[in-house]
Amino acid sequence: MSKSFYVTTPIYYVNDVPHIGHAYTTIATDVIARFNRLKGNKVFFLTGTDEHGQKIERTAEANGEKPIELANRVVKRFQDLSGALNITNDDFIRTTEERHRISVEEIFKRVEAAGDIYLSEYEGWYDVREEAFITETQLEEIQNMPEDKRPVIEKVKEESYFFRLSKYQEPLLEHYEKHPEFVQPSYRLNEVARFVEGGLRDLSISRTTFSWGIPVPGNPKHVIYVWFDALTNYITGVGFPSDEKMFEENWPADVHLVGKDILRFHAVYWPAFLMSAGLPLPKTVFAHGWWTVEGEKMSKSLGNVVDPYQVVDEFGADVFRYFLLREIPFGQDGDFSKSAIVARVNGELANGLGNLVSRTLGMIEKYFDAKVPEPTAFSADDEAIREKAFSAVSTFEKEMDEIAFHKALVSLWHYIAEVNKYVDESVPWTLAKEGNTERLATVLWTIAQAIGAVTILIYPFMPISAEKMWSRLGSTDSLDSKHLIHAKEWGVVQSGQTVVKGDSLFPRFDDK
Ligand code: MSP
Repeated sequence: MSKSFYVTTPIYYVNDVPHIGHAYTTIATDVIARFNRLKGNKVFFLTGTDEHGQKIERTAEANGEKPIELANRVVKRFQDLSGALNITNDDFIRTTEERHRISVEEIFKRVEAAGDIYLSEYEGWYDVREEAFITETQLEEIQNMPEDKRPVIEKVKEESYFFRLSKYQEPLLEHYEKHPEFVQPSYRLNEVARFVEGGLRDLSISRTTFSWGIPVPGNPKHVIYVWFDALTNYITGVGFPSDEKMFEENWPADVHLVGKDILRFHAVYWPAFLMSAGLPLPKTVFAHGWWTVEGEKMSKSLGNVVDPYQVVDEFGADVFRYFLLREIPFGQDGDFSKSAIVARVNGELANGLGNLVSRTLGMIEKYFDAKVPEPTAFSADDEAIREKAFSAVSTFEKEMDEIAFHKALVSLWHYIAEVNKYVDESVPWTLAKEGNTERLATVLWTIAQAIGAVTILIYPFMPISAEKMWSRLGSTDSLDSKHLIHAKEWGVVQSGQTVVKGDSLFPRFDDK
């Protein structure tokens, strides 16, 4: 039985509707999933919603609804996002599902059986927005913040079950040491390791002052801490504890993709829970950066929260996907603005790629009755552009394996520029005028192969456009049946296929 490539998004809180931050994590995960399918891997891709906890309970209360009513209403906005953004998740997990309660109870019992849970009292501070217990150091940091930047925290004093996190300080450090790929980008690993070296205190993992959550097995006065509950979704989603076959096929996860704000939960608490329960650890936790909007932090109070559905309406899903992953090096923060999207569309999509496709297909229509011609003798230039395609595919693959989307796209557009240069230098319009049909056929055939390769490579990023390009090239098979190796198969676009120039693939936007 071969192991699947298993990739996850964080599960989203249902206290609020999705914004571009959520769309970002989900799109990036989708591109990883699609790229791995393109490599020929079996893939399992999980996303979902985090529906328990004090924050959800309070939001529901404020709306005059039951928490489950709030969850049932908001979850639709997250589920529909898959359609709007072309997300290929295999499952969508909600933490209020029965399968998840069973899974959380089971891991709780295993951790308890390992001697890592004890009853005591928590006295300290809690951040309801982040659903996080505040450590002494964090409290100090908060007190030093300017007043308007300080998170709202509350004093808590209640009976609580604790997890012996302190016991895992050394094992965690050892794991980071042995598996530096566990936390990426690498500068994030250093942050996490410094935090753990600073000392780990046992973690409160149950609450008694509200009830919206999964009860502690054997003591229903307590509900399980929402992060213990939420992190467990990653194993519930692949069949834990009942479907052993599915679990074996998928666990451990290859990549948990998360925002930098929730790295600690994934790189410290989650592996400690898993070690305690005797389960294998995920291979990589990758933390991405945060988006600001026109230079400002995105927030409800500023009224600048960007709705992903609106961006899709205005620019289309492909442009949105391309922009988010091309604009900033993955891992770093970036700024979102319509003018930045327009600049990318006009400069790279319309000019670079769209123009290459439309002029090539236009010439095949005009000079060869829309049939991809037969090549004859290849010149050194033809060979060179083919060689460049091979190395473009290899570079792309390497950069995608490193989850460096931005680099992969830059390299690919570098190749597209090379192909445009080849077109200009081969002067097909002059060859046509001179009646040099043989050479013209070889040149247009060569460009068609280059476009075929590019189509396969952009498929994970811009699935709709890639499919359009694929059918305009006259291919009748599905792009889904193509793998990365086909991008190197110079000849993937066959002579005799009927092309269609069609309307412009990436219409330009007015940059005012
Ligand atoms: N429910 C937890 C995750 C539990 S995972 C076991 C949670 N949910 S969230 O809805 O608040 O956030 C989900 C993701 O959205 C996080 O990865 C977070 O980093 C991301 N983003 C939220 N705002 C963002 C930006 N402004 N920019 C980029 N990503 C952002 O945390």
